[in-house]
Amino acid sequence: MNSILNKSLQLINKKWISRRMSLLTECITPELKAIEAAGTWKKERIIASPQRTRITLTNGVEALNFCANNYLGLSDNKEVISAAKLALDKYGAGLSSVRFICGTQEIHVELEKKIAEFHGREGAILYASCFDANAGLFETLLNSEDTVLSDELNHASIIDGIRLCKAKKHRYKHRDMEDLENKLRDSMSSRLRLIATDGVFSMDGTVAPLLKILELAKKYNALTFVDDCHATGFFGNTGRGTEDYFNQLGSIDIINSTLGKALGGAAGGYTTGKEELINLLRQRSRPYLFSNSLPPPVVASANKVMDLITNTTEFLDRLKSNTDLFRNNMKAAGFTISGDNHPICPVMIGNARLASEFADKMIEQGIYVIGFSYPVVPKDKARIRVQISAAHSRNDIEQAVNAFVRIGRELEVIN
Ligand SMILES: Cc1ncc(COP(=O)(O)O)c(C=O)c1O
Repeated sequence: MNSILNKSLQLINKKWISRRMSLLTECITPELKAIEAAGTWKKERIIASPQRTRITLTNGVEALNFCANNYLGLSDNKEVISAAKLALDKYGAGLSSVRFICGTQEIHVELEKKIAEFHGREGAILYASCFDANAGLFETLLNSEDTVLSDELNHASIIDGIRLCKAKKHRYKHRDMEDLENKLRDSMSSRLRLIATDGVFSMDGTVAPLLKILELAKKYNALTFVDDCHATGFFGNTGRGTEDYFNQLGSIDIINSTLGKALGGAAGGYTTGKEELINLLRQRSRPYLFSNSLPPPVVASANKVMDLITNTTEFLDRLKSNTDLFRNNMKAAGFTISGDNHPICPVMIGNARLASEFADKMIEQGIYVIGFSYPVVPKDKARIRVQISAAHSRNDIEQAVNAFVRIGRELEVIN
């Protein structure tokens, strides 16, 4: 009797699950179809090797990689890998805890100290990602008496972080300092005004107008926040990022950045700034308080990266000369390269289909690049975003330029 009852209960349950699942499918399918129809479906190409300049694809084909954020070439650096392995043995795979319960090891504290010293700041706080650092900052710092002024093309994580806070929100036109000034003027009654910008805008390789931002911040007594994910470790004279590029070391109030790009490329993010700010984030910032500690191998690899880059410009010197080589040779061949001398080198194509065809042909020729088109970039501004690494050899760069020239002529992008 019991087993018959159980069976019929199971049947009813199955029916309910299947009904709920078809409801889910009904809701999701039109959206998936719309993404496909818009031509914005993001395919994930799978690689079968570590992240490096020469990657192996799953079909065994080798390609020269020009689309990673591996700016300093440290993602597969032997010293970095071996530091991670040692930490795995000594400190284990992970902490099974958030930082404030039992998830802080000496290496976490050491890394925060090194990051703060690298930036010349009083303190630093680690997060699982820079996305989290951005998600945790604004809500913690700002309340309804405050105003945040954000560049309209800021990274999605800044936009989301700002959404979470109760401050008044103003979006100023991209890098438009007149618009920023008007909005600062309009917010004079606020307790705090915080100007928030990417240091380097990753789709264009352009730099925020920091000198003007600092001037306005001084004039209107506003704070400054810069997300330096595409600058930390390699941009500016000593790789200290956007403020270094403008010879303004120490001038930004709050810097967020990532360990997931130039600084080893594993994962993790941080905020660095005044001690009181870091203390407040440790007490209140939700992605810090309620998410697991960074795993020891990740922390150790970042610690090693900080040792490798703090007292030398070896890696960034190589990156600068590789960037110059690529930009100069491409311009000489007739291509338009956008951006401000940054290793993000958008090769402007214009038409979306042409950019996608161009990128596919580059991959066929063993050069791994990706085309970007609307809505990621404005309509008619489709491009192939090339990212240069310190680990590229001269020969790698020349091979890429030669492929661009061959295909560029074939597709009549250049003469
Ligand atoms: C400007 C900017 N901010 C934040 C992030 C997020 O960094 P993470 O990968 O550490 O979450 C990225 C990554 O793409 C970025 O480009």
